[in-house]
Amino acid sequence: MIITYTTQAPTTGDRIIPLVQTESLADRLAPLADELAVPVDVLPRDFKADAREVMSLYGSGGTKTYLLGLGKKPQAMDWLRAFRKLIFDQKARLAEQVWVDLTDADGATVEAVVLGIRGGTYDLRLFQTDKPEPPAFLTDAGRLTLVVSADQEEAVQTSLNRAEVIAQTTRQMLDLMNAPANLKSPERLSDWAVASGREHGYAVTVLNRAELERQGLNALLSVAQGSDVPPVLIVAEYKPEGIDKAPTVGLVGKGVTFDTGGVSIKDSANMHLMKSDMGGAAAVLGTVEVAARLRLPVHLIGIVPATENSTDGRSTKPGDVITAYNGKTIEVIDTDAEGRVILADGLGYMLRHYQPDVLIDLATLTGSVIGTLGYHAAGLFSNNDDLASQLTASADRTGERLWRLPIWDLYKDDIRSDVADVKNFHGKPINGAIAAAKFLEVFIEGHPAWAHLDIAGMAFADTEFGSQKNATGYGIRLLIDYLRTIPANG
Ligand code: BES
Ligand code: MN
Ligand code: ZN
Repeated sequence: MIITYTTQAPTTGDRIIPLVQTESLADRLAPLADELAVPVDVLPRDFKADAREVMSLYGSGGTKTYLLGLGKKPQAMDWLRAFRKLIFDQKARLAEQVWVDLTDADGATVEAVVLGIRGGTYDLRLFQTDKPEPPAFLTDAGRLTLVVSADQEEAVQTSLNRAEVIAQTTRQMLDLMNAPANLKSPERLSDWAVASGREHGYAVTVLNRAELERQGLNALLSVAQGSDVPPVLIVAEYKPEGIDKAPTVGLVGKGVTFDTGGVSIKDSANMHLMKSDMGGAAAVLGTVEVAARLRLPVHLIGIVPATENSTDGRSTKPGDVITAYNGKTIEVIDTDAEGRVILADGLGYMLRHYQPDVLIDLATLTGSVIGTLGYHAAGLFSNNDDLASQLTASADRTGERLWRLPIWDLYKDDIRSDVADVKNFHGKPINGAIAAAKFLEVFIEGHPAWAHLDIAGMAFADTEFGSQKNATGYGIRLLIDYLRTIPANG
Protein backbone atom coordinates (compact mmCIF):
# COMPACT_ATOMS: atom_id res chain seq x y z
CA MET A 1 0.00 0.00 0.00
CA ILE A 2 1.33 3.39 -0.97
CA ILE A 3 0.63 6.46 1.14
CA THR A 4 0.49 9.90 -0.46
CA TYR A 5 -1.04 13.23 0.46
CA THR A 6 -3.07 15.86 -1.32
CA THR A 7 -5.11 18.95 -0.55
CA GLN A 8 -8.09 17.86 -2.69
CA ALA A 9 -10.53 15.28 -1.39
CA PRO A 10 -10.67 12.34 -3.83
CA THR A 11 -14.03 11.44 -5.32
CA THR A 12 -13.57 7.67 -5.16
CA GLY A 13 -12.59 5.09 -2.57
CA ASP A 14 -13.45 4.52 1.07
CA ARG A 15 -13.05 7.42 3.43
CA ILE A 16 -11.92 7.62 7.05
CA ILE A 17 -12.96 10.60 9.11
CA PRO A 18 -11.27 10.90 12.51
CA LEU A 19 -13.40 12.79 15.01
CA VAL A 20 -12.54 14.28 18.38
CA GLN A 21 -15.14 14.20 21.13
CA THR A 22 -15.97 17.90 21.46
CA GLU A 23 -19.03 20.04 22.05
CA SER A 24 -19.26 20.66 18.35
CA LEU A 25 -19.31 16.99 17.36
CA ALA A 26 -22.99 17.15 16.42
CA ASP A 27 -22.27 20.10 14.13
CA ARG A 28 -19.53 18.11 12.42
CA LEU A 29 -21.80 15.12 12.01
CA ALA A 30 -24.78 17.06 10.60
CA PRO A 31 -23.43 17.60 7.06
CA LEU A 32 -22.26 13.99 6.98
CA ALA A 33 -25.69 12.73 7.99
CA ASP A 34 -27.09 14.88 5.23
CA GLU A 35 -24.68 13.60 2.62
CA LEU A 36 -25.11 9.94 3.59
CA ALA A 37 -28.89 10.17 4.01
CA VAL A 38 -28.82 9.25 7.69
CA PRO A 39 -31.30 11.00 10.02
CA VAL A 40 -29.50 14.02 11.49
CA ASP A 41 -30.69 13.29 15.03
CA VAL A 42 -29.79 9.59 14.92
CA LEU A 43 -26.14 9.87 13.94
CA PRO A 44 -24.94 11.84 17.02
CA ARG A 45 -26.83 9.38 19.19
CA ASP A 46 -25.13 6.38 17.62
CA PHE A 47 -21.63 7.80 17.30
CA LYS A 48 -20.04 9.46 20.33
CA ALA A 49 -16.41 9.67 19.13
CA ASP A 50 -15.19 7.67 22.12
CA ALA A 51 -11.56 6.63 21.79
CA ARG A 52 -11.28 3.98 19.05
CA GLU A 53 -15.03 3.89 18.43
CA VAL A 54 -15.70 3.00 14.81
CA MET A 55 -18.85 3.40 12.76
CA SER A 56 -19.03 2.49 9.11
CA LEU A 57 -21.65 3.93 6.81
CA TYR A 58 -22.44 3.30 3.15
CA GLY A 59 -22.54 6.14 0.70
CA SER A 60 -23.79 6.26 -2.84
CA GLY A 61 -21.91 4.02 -5.27
CA GLY A 62 -21.00 1.51 -2.54
CA THR A 63 -18.14 3.51 -1.06
CA LYS A 64 -17.86 3.47 2.71
CA THR A 65 -17.25 6.14 5.28
CA TYR A 66 -15.59 5.17 8.52
CA LEU A 67 -16.09 7.50 11.44
CA LEU A 68 -13.20 7.00 13.84
CA GLY A 69 -13.52 8.23 17.42
CA LEU A 70 -10.53 9.75 19.17
CA GLY A 71 -12.01 10.62 22.56
CA LYS A 72 -11.38 13.95 24.23
CA LYS A 73 -8.08 15.80 23.73
CA PRO A 74 -6.28 13.02 21.87
CA GLN A 75 -2.46 12.93 22.08
CA ALA A 76 -0.12 11.47 19.46
CA MET A 77 -0.39 7.98 20.95
CA ASP A 78 -4.22 8.16 20.89
CA TRP A 79 -4.19 8.98 17.18
CA LEU A 80 -1.66 6.23 16.55
CA ARG A 81 -3.59 3.59 18.49
CA ALA A 82 -6.96 4.53 16.99
CA PHE A 83 -5.65 4.24 13.43
CA ARG A 84 -3.66 1.11 14.19
CA LYS A 85 -6.72 -0.68 15.50
CA LEU A 86 -8.99 0.55 12.73
CA ILE A 87 -6.64 -0.60 9.99
CA PHE A 88 -5.89 -3.89 11.74
CA ASP A 89 -9.59 -4.69 12.21
CA GLN A 90 -10.84 -3.41 8.85
CA LYS A 91 -7.98 -4.17 6.45
CA ALA A 92 -9.89 -6.93 4.69
CA ARG A 93 -12.98 -4.76 4.30
CA LEU A 94 -11.33 -1.61 3.00
CA ALA A 95 -11.43 -0.74 -0.68
CA GLU A 96 -8.23 -0.71 -2.71
CA GLN A 97 -8.31 3.06 -2.45
CA VAL A 98 -8.82 4.78 0.86
CA TRP A 99 -8.53 8.37 1.89
CA VAL A 100 -8.30 9.98 5.30
CA ASP A 101 -9.70 13.39 6.14
CA LEU A 102 -6.83 15.11 7.96
CA THR A 103 -7.72 18.67 7.02
CA ASP A 104 -7.60 19.69 10.68
CA ALA A 105 -4.34 17.91 11.48
CA ASP A 106 -0.82 19.28 11.88
CA GLY A 107 2.44 17.55 10.94
CA ALA A 108 2.90 15.77 14.27
CA THR A 109 -0.61 14.33 14.08
CA VAL A 110 -0.05 13.18 10.51
CA GLU A 111 3.12 11.39 11.68
CA ALA A 112 1.15 9.57 14.38
CA VAL A 113 -1.60 8.66 11.90
CA VAL A 114 0.86 7.22 9.39
CA LEU A 115 2.62 5.25 12.12
CA GLY A 116 -0.77 3.93 13.22
CA ILE A 117 -1.75 2.95 9.70
CA ARG A 118 1.54 1.20 9.02
CA GLY A 119 1.39 -0.41 12.47
CA GLY A 120 -2.09 -1.75 11.72
CA THR A 121 -0.80 -3.70 8.76
CA TYR A 122 1.60 -5.69 10.96
CA ASP A 123 1.13 -9.44 10.75
CA LEU A 124 2.30 -11.54 13.67
CA ARG A 125 1.79 -14.82 11.80
CA LEU A 126 5.42 -14.90 10.72
CA PHE A 127 5.59 -18.67 10.48
CA GLN A 128 2.11 -19.74 9.43
CA THR A 129 2.10 -21.68 6.18
CA ASP A 130 -1.47 -21.26 4.96
CA LYS A 131 -1.99 -17.55 5.29
CA PRO A 132 -4.80 -16.11 3.17
CA GLU A 133 -3.95 -13.82 0.25
CA PRO A 134 -3.52 -10.26 1.50
CA PRO A 135 -6.49 -7.99 0.73
CA ALA A 136 -5.99 -5.66 -2.26
CA PHE A 137 -5.64 -2.65 0.01
CA LEU A 138 -2.47 -4.16 1.51
CA THR A 139 -0.86 -5.07 -1.81
CA ASP A 140 1.23 -2.74 -3.99
CA ALA A 141 -1.99 -1.75 -5.71
CA GLY A 142 -3.43 -0.31 -2.48
CA ARG A 143 -3.52 3.48 -2.20
CA LEU A 144 -4.05 5.55 0.89
CA THR A 145 -4.38 9.29 0.46
CA LEU A 146 -4.05 11.76 3.28
CA VAL A 147 -6.13 14.84 2.64
CA VAL A 148 -4.48 17.76 4.40
CA SER A 149 -4.93 21.52 4.48
CA ALA A 150 -2.79 23.58 2.13
CA ASP A 151 -0.97 25.41 4.93
CA GLN A 152 0.24 22.08 6.37
CA GLU A 153 1.59 20.64 3.14
CA GLU A 154 5.25 21.21 3.91
CA ALA A 155 5.00 19.87 7.45
CA VAL A 156 3.07 16.87 6.18
CA GLN A 157 5.73 16.06 3.60
CA THR A 158 8.41 15.86 6.32
CA SER A 159 6.17 14.02 8.76
CA LEU A 160 5.08 11.46 6.21
CA ASN A 161 8.67 10.79 5.23
CA ARG A 162 9.81 10.46 8.84
CA ALA A 163 6.88 8.23 9.75
CA GLU A 164 7.58 5.93 6.80
CA VAL A 165 11.20 5.52 7.87
CA ILE A 166 10.29 4.88 11.50
CA ALA A 167 7.56 2.44 10.46
CA GLN A 168 9.86 0.44 8.16
CA THR A 169 12.60 0.11 10.76
CA THR A 170 10.15 -0.61 13.57
CA ARG A 171 8.57 -3.41 11.56
CA GLN A 172 11.92 -5.13 11.22
CA MET A 173 12.50 -4.78 14.95
CA LEU A 174 9.07 -6.26 15.64
CA ASP A 175 9.96 -9.24 13.46
CA LEU A 176 13.23 -9.73 15.34
CA MET A 177 11.53 -9.32 18.71
CA ASN A 178 8.77 -11.76 17.82
CA ALA A 179 11.10 -14.35 16.28
CA PRO A 180 11.68 -17.40 18.47
CA ALA A 181 15.11 -18.10 19.91
CA ASN A 182 15.76 -21.05 17.58
CA LEU A 183 15.51 -18.63 14.65
CA LYS A 184 17.18 -15.69 16.35
CA SER A 185 20.76 -16.11 17.47
CA PRO A 186 22.85 -13.17 18.69
CA GLU A 187 24.62 -13.45 15.33
CA ARG A 188 21.33 -12.88 13.56
CA LEU A 189 21.09 -9.53 15.36
CA SER A 190 24.61 -8.63 14.28
CA ASP A 191 23.91 -9.77 10.70
CA TRP A 192 20.92 -7.45 10.67
CA ALA A 193 23.03 -4.57 11.98
CA VAL A 194 25.82 -5.15 9.47
CA ALA A 195 23.36 -5.26 6.56
CA SER A 196 21.58 -2.16 7.80
CA GLY A 197 24.83 -0.25 8.26
CA ARG A 198 25.89 -1.12 4.72
CA GLU A 199 22.56 -0.06 3.28
CA HIS A 200 22.18 3.18 5.21
CA GLY A 201 25.76 4.36 5.54
CA TYR A 202 26.86 3.78 9.11
CA ALA A 203 29.69 1.68 10.53
CA VAL A 204 29.03 -1.62 12.28
CA THR A 205 31.69 -3.69 14.02
CA VAL A 206 30.95 -7.07 15.54
CA LEU A 207 33.06 -8.67 18.25
CA ASN A 208 32.72 -12.45 18.11
CA ARG A 209 33.42 -14.85 20.96
CA ALA A 210 37.16 -15.07 20.29
CA GLU A 211 37.43 -11.29 20.17
CA LEU A 212 35.34 -10.92 23.35
CA GLU A 213 37.74 -13.32 25.06
CA ARG A 214 40.77 -11.50 23.74
CA GLN A 215 39.49 -8.16 24.97
CA GLY A 216 38.15 -9.46 28.27
CA LEU A 217 34.39 -8.86 28.09
CA ASN A 218 34.06 -11.52 30.75
CA ALA A 219 30.73 -10.39 32.12
CA LEU A 220 29.08 -10.88 28.73
CA LEU A 221 30.97 -14.15 28.27
CA SER A 222 29.90 -15.43 31.68
CA VAL A 223 26.23 -15.11 30.75
CA ALA A 224 26.92 -16.72 27.37
CA GLN A 225 28.95 -19.67 28.57
CA GLY A 226 25.97 -21.93 29.25
CA SER A 227 24.68 -21.59 25.71
CA ASP A 228 25.63 -23.21 22.42
CA VAL A 229 25.00 -20.10 20.37
CA PRO A 230 27.94 -17.69 20.48
CA PRO A 231 27.56 -14.19 21.93
CA VAL A 232 28.44 -11.00 20.08
CA LEU A 233 29.01 -7.37 20.91
CA ILE A 234 27.54 -5.14 18.22
CA VAL A 235 28.98 -1.64 17.85
CA ALA A 236 27.11 0.65 15.45
CA GLU A 237 28.29 4.17 14.80
CA TYR A 238 26.52 6.84 12.81
CA LYS A 239 28.34 10.10 12.18
CA PRO A 240 26.49 12.92 10.46
CA GLU A 241 28.29 14.34 7.44
CA GLY A 242 29.63 17.86 7.40
CA ILE A 243 29.04 18.60 11.08
CA ASP A 244 32.17 19.03 13.17
CA LYS A 245 30.91 19.22 16.69
CA ALA A 246 27.77 17.12 16.64
CA PRO A 247 26.68 16.08 20.13
CA THR A 248 27.60 12.47 20.84
CA VAL A 249 25.04 10.10 22.26
CA GLY A 250 25.89 6.59 23.41
CA LEU A 251 23.10 4.01 23.49
CA VAL A 252 23.49 0.59 25.09
CA GLY A 253 20.77 -2.06 24.69
CA LYS A 254 20.28 -5.43 26.35
CA GLY A 255 20.19 -8.13 23.70
CA VAL A 256 19.27 -11.38 25.43
CA THR A 257 17.84 -13.55 22.66
CA PHE A 258 16.44 -15.98 25.23
CA ASP A 259 16.44 -15.79 29.01
CA THR A 260 15.92 -19.13 30.71
CA GLY A 261 17.24 -17.61 33.92
CA GLY A 262 20.31 -19.82 33.69
CA VAL A 263 20.96 -22.11 36.67
CA SER A 264 18.60 -19.87 38.68
CA ILE A 265 16.04 -21.11 36.19
CA LYS A 266 12.70 -19.40 35.64
CA ASP A 267 9.48 -21.33 36.08
CA SER A 268 7.98 -22.35 32.77
CA ALA A 269 4.61 -20.57 32.82
CA ASN A 270 5.70 -17.50 30.88
CA MET A 271 9.22 -18.47 29.95
CA HIS A 272 8.44 -18.49 26.21
CA LEU A 273 8.01 -14.71 26.37
CA MET A 274 11.72 -14.48 27.17
CA LYS A 275 12.46 -14.82 23.46
CA SER A 276 11.74 -11.09 23.47
CA ASP A 277 14.29 -10.21 26.16
CA MET A 278 16.09 -8.05 23.62
CA GLY A 279 13.80 -5.04 23.60
CA GLY A 280 16.68 -2.77 24.57
CA ALA A 281 18.71 -4.05 21.62
CA ALA A 282 15.76 -3.52 19.28
CA ALA A 283 15.35 0.06 20.49
CA VAL A 284 19.07 0.80 20.07
CA LEU A 285 19.53 -0.88 16.67
CA GLY A 286 16.30 0.59 15.37
CA THR A 287 17.17 4.08 16.58
CA VAL A 288 20.61 4.04 14.96
CA GLU A 289 19.10 2.95 11.64
CA VAL A 290 16.38 5.61 11.75
CA ALA A 291 18.84 8.33 12.79
CA ALA A 292 21.12 7.40 9.89
CA ARG A 293 18.25 7.33 7.39
CA LEU A 294 16.96 10.70 8.59
CA ARG A 295 20.51 12.08 8.74
CA LEU A 296 19.95 13.52 12.19
CA PRO A 297 22.71 15.93 13.23
CA VAL A 298 23.93 13.78 16.11
CA HIS A 299 26.87 11.44 16.45
CA LEU A 300 25.33 8.21 17.62
CA ILE A 301 26.99 5.09 18.98
CA GLY A 302 24.84 2.04 19.62
CA ILE A 303 26.25 -0.89 21.54
CA VAL A 304 24.45 -4.18 21.97
CA PRO A 305 25.81 -7.03 24.04
CA ALA A 306 23.88 -10.01 22.68
CA THR A 307 23.66 -13.51 24.10
CA GLU A 308 21.36 -16.25 25.23
CA ASN A 309 21.05 -16.90 28.95
CA SER A 310 20.86 -20.66 29.01
CA THR A 311 21.74 -23.48 31.29
CA ASP A 312 24.05 -26.48 31.05
CA GLY A 313 27.14 -27.91 32.73
CA ARG A 314 29.28 -24.94 31.84
CA SER A 315 26.81 -22.29 32.98
CA THR A 316 27.80 -19.65 35.46
CA LYS A 317 26.63 -20.74 38.90
CA PRO A 318 25.20 -18.66 41.71
CA GLY A 319 28.09 -17.43 43.81
CA ASP A 320 30.54 -17.28 40.90
CA VAL A 321 32.72 -14.19 40.77
CA ILE A 322 33.60 -12.67 37.42
CA THR A 323 35.73 -9.75 36.32
CA ALA A 324 33.95 -7.33 34.03
CA TYR A 325 35.56 -5.54 31.08
CA ASN A 326 36.33 -2.46 33.19
CA GLY A 327 38.11 -4.59 35.82
CA LYS A 328 35.39 -4.54 38.49
CA THR A 329 34.44 -7.86 40.05
CA ILE A 330 30.83 -9.08 40.17
CA GLU A 331 29.43 -11.73 42.49
CA VAL A 332 26.65 -13.49 40.61
CA ILE A 333 24.06 -14.20 43.27
CA ASP A 334 21.33 -14.98 40.76
CA THR A 335 22.04 -15.99 37.17
CA ASP A 336 18.60 -14.69 36.19
CA ALA A 337 19.82 -11.14 36.85
CA GLU A 338 21.85 -11.47 33.64
CA GLY A 339 20.79 -8.27 31.91
CA ARG A 340 22.69 -5.97 34.24
CA VAL A 341 25.74 -8.23 33.93
CA ILE A 342 25.97 -7.96 30.15
CA LEU A 343 25.14 -4.24 30.33
CA ALA A 344 28.13 -3.82 32.64
CA ASP A 345 30.34 -4.80 29.71
CA GLY A 346 28.28 -2.86 27.18
CA LEU A 347 28.66 0.30 29.28
CA GLY A 348 32.30 -0.46 29.98
CA TYR A 349 33.07 -0.89 26.30
CA MET A 350 31.23 2.32 25.43
CA LEU A 351 33.14 4.37 27.99
CA ARG A 352 36.55 2.90 27.17
CA HIS A 353 36.22 3.57 23.43
CA TYR A 354 33.95 6.60 23.10
CA GLN A 355 33.28 9.79 25.01
CA PRO A 356 29.54 10.27 24.64
CA ASP A 357 28.08 13.52 25.98
CA VAL A 358 25.00 11.55 26.94
CA LEU A 359 24.81 7.88 27.87
CA ILE A 360 21.49 6.03 27.73
CA ASP A 361 20.90 2.34 28.29
CA LEU A 362 17.68 0.46 27.64
CA ALA A 363 16.82 -3.00 28.89
CA THR A 364 13.99 -5.39 29.62
CA LEU A 365 15.67 -5.58 32.98
CA THR A 366 13.30 -6.40 35.82
CA GLY A 367 9.90 -7.84 36.60
CA SER A 368 10.00 -5.37 39.46
CA VAL A 369 9.52 -2.35 37.19
CA ILE A 370 6.30 -3.99 35.97
CA GLY A 371 5.22 -4.41 39.59
CA THR A 372 5.91 -0.71 40.08
CA LEU A 373 4.59 0.92 36.90
CA GLY A 374 2.61 -1.84 35.20
CA TYR A 375 2.36 -1.73 31.43
CA HIS A 376 1.89 2.01 30.98
CA ALA A 377 5.36 3.45 31.50
CA ALA A 378 8.99 2.44 31.53
CA GLY A 379 11.13 3.21 34.56
CA LEU A 380 13.55 6.11 34.10
CA PHE A 381 16.65 6.36 36.28
CA SER A 382 19.07 9.21 35.82
CA ASN A 383 21.83 11.11 37.57
CA ASN A 384 21.05 14.22 35.51
CA ASP A 385 17.88 16.28 35.96
CA ASP A 386 18.11 17.99 32.56
CA LEU A 387 18.48 14.69 30.75
CA ALA A 388 15.64 13.21 32.77
CA SER A 389 13.30 16.07 31.92
CA GLN A 390 14.28 16.06 28.23
CA LEU A 391 13.59 12.34 28.00
CA THR A 392 10.33 12.75 29.89
CA ALA A 393 9.27 15.51 27.50
CA SER A 394 9.93 13.17 24.57
CA ALA A 395 8.03 10.43 26.35
CA ASP A 396 5.04 12.72 26.83
CA ARG A 397 5.12 13.87 23.20
CA THR A 398 5.35 10.38 21.74
CA GLY A 399 3.18 8.61 24.32
CA GLU A 400 6.04 6.16 24.98
CA ARG A 401 5.81 7.03 28.64
CA LEU A 402 8.58 7.23 31.19
CA TRP A 403 8.32 7.71 34.92
CA ARG A 404 11.34 8.61 36.99
CA LEU A 405 12.35 6.47 39.94
CA PRO A 406 15.09 7.29 42.47
CA ILE A 407 18.66 6.09 42.57
CA TRP A 408 19.51 7.45 46.01
CA ASP A 409 22.59 6.00 47.65
CA LEU A 410 20.27 4.76 50.39
CA TYR A 411 19.86 1.78 48.09
CA LYS A 412 23.57 1.16 47.76
CA ASP A 413 23.59 -1.59 50.38
CA ASP A 414 21.54 -3.66 47.95
CA ILE A 415 24.53 -4.23 45.71
CA ARG A 416 27.25 -4.58 48.34
CA SER A 417 28.98 -7.93 48.07
CA ASP A 418 30.96 -9.61 50.86
CA VAL A 419 33.50 -10.98 48.45
CA ALA A 420 33.48 -8.88 45.26
CA ASP A 421 33.13 -5.21 44.25
CA VAL A 422 29.43 -5.60 43.62
CA LYS A 423 26.75 -8.29 43.62
CA ASN A 424 24.06 -8.67 40.99
CA PHE A 425 21.06 -9.34 43.24
CA HIS A 426 20.09 -8.21 46.73
CA GLY A 427 17.95 -11.30 47.37
CA LYS A 428 14.88 -9.34 48.37
CA PRO A 429 11.42 -9.04 46.83
CA ILE A 430 11.51 -5.23 47.13
CA ASN A 431 12.81 -2.30 45.02
CA GLY A 432 14.21 -4.67 42.40
CA ALA A 433 14.27 -2.14 39.55
CA ILE A 434 16.11 0.39 41.70
CA ALA A 435 18.65 -2.18 42.88
CA ALA A 436 19.32 -3.05 39.22
CA ALA A 437 19.83 0.64 38.40
CA LYS A 438 22.25 0.99 41.32
CA PHE A 439 24.20 -1.96 39.92
CA LEU A 440 24.45 -0.32 36.50
CA GLU A 441 25.55 2.96 38.08
CA VAL A 442 28.73 1.20 39.23
CA PHE A 443 29.68 0.76 35.57
CA ILE A 444 29.11 4.28 34.22
CA GLU A 445 32.49 5.50 35.56
CA GLY A 446 30.95 8.64 37.00
CA HIS A 447 29.48 9.75 33.65
CA PRO A 448 27.59 12.99 34.38
CA ALA A 449 24.64 12.48 32.01
CA TRP A 450 23.39 8.92 32.20
CA ALA A 451 19.89 7.54 31.94
CA HIS A 452 18.75 3.96 32.36
CA LEU A 453 15.38 2.95 30.95
CA ASP A 454 13.88 -0.26 32.35
CA ILE A 455 11.47 -1.20 29.57
CA ALA A 456 10.46 -4.69 30.76
CA GLY A 457 6.77 -3.75 30.84
CA MET A 458 6.80 -1.80 27.59
CA ALA A 459 8.86 -3.75 25.06
CA PHE A 460 6.26 -6.45 24.68
CA ALA A 461 2.63 -6.16 25.61
CA ASP A 462 -0.92 -7.18 24.84
CA THR A 463 -1.79 -5.89 21.38
CA GLU A 464 -4.45 -6.46 18.76
CA PHE A 465 -1.92 -8.57 16.83
CA GLY A 466 -2.22 -11.71 18.92
CA SER A 467 -3.33 -13.47 22.08
CA GLN A 468 0.15 -13.56 23.65
CA LYS A 469 2.20 -10.56 24.61
CA ASN A 470 4.19 -9.46 21.58
CA ALA A 471 6.62 -6.78 20.52
CA THR A 472 5.67 -3.10 20.63
CA GLY A 473 8.75 -1.44 19.16
CA TYR A 474 8.91 0.74 22.27
CA GLY A 475 11.80 3.16 22.43
CA ILE A 476 12.49 4.04 18.80
CA ARG A 477 9.98 6.89 18.56
CA LEU A 478 10.99 8.05 22.03
CA LEU A 479 14.71 8.15 21.26
CA ILE A 480 14.27 9.68 17.82
CA ASP A 481 12.15 12.43 19.31
CA TYR A 482 14.82 13.00 21.96
CA LEU A 483 17.65 13.03 19.40
CA ARG A 484 15.75 15.55 17.30
CA THR A 485 15.52 17.92 20.26
CA ILE A 486 19.18 17.74 21.32
CA PRO A 487 20.55 20.46 19.02
CA ALA A 488 17.89 22.84 20.32
CA ASN A 489 18.84 22.00 23.89
CA GLY A 490 22.46 22.90 23.13
N1 BES B 1 14.44 -10.49 31.48
C1 BES B 1 14.11 -10.48 32.86
C2 BES B 1 13.17 -9.35 33.25
C3 BES B 1 11.79 -9.38 32.64
C4 BES B 1 10.73 -9.93 33.37
C5 BES B 1 11.54 -8.81 31.43
C6 BES B 1 9.47 -9.92 32.83
C7 BES B 1 10.27 -8.82 30.88
C8 BES B 1 9.23 -9.37 31.59
C9 BES B 1 15.39 -10.33 33.69
O1 BES B 1 16.53 -10.86 33.14
C10 BES B 1 15.14 -11.06 34.97
O2 BES B 1 15.06 -12.24 34.94
N2 BES B 1 15.02 -10.31 36.05
C11 BES B 1 14.80 -10.88 37.32
C12 BES B 1 15.86 -10.32 38.23
C13 BES B 1 15.94 -10.97 39.55
C14 BES B 1 16.39 -12.38 39.46
C15 BES B 1 16.92 -10.15 40.37
C16 BES B 1 13.42 -10.48 37.78
O3 BES B 1 13.01 -9.35 37.51
O4 BES B 1 12.73 -11.30 38.37
MN1 MN C 1 16.81 -12.90 33.70
ZN1 ZN D 1 16.57 -11.07 31.10
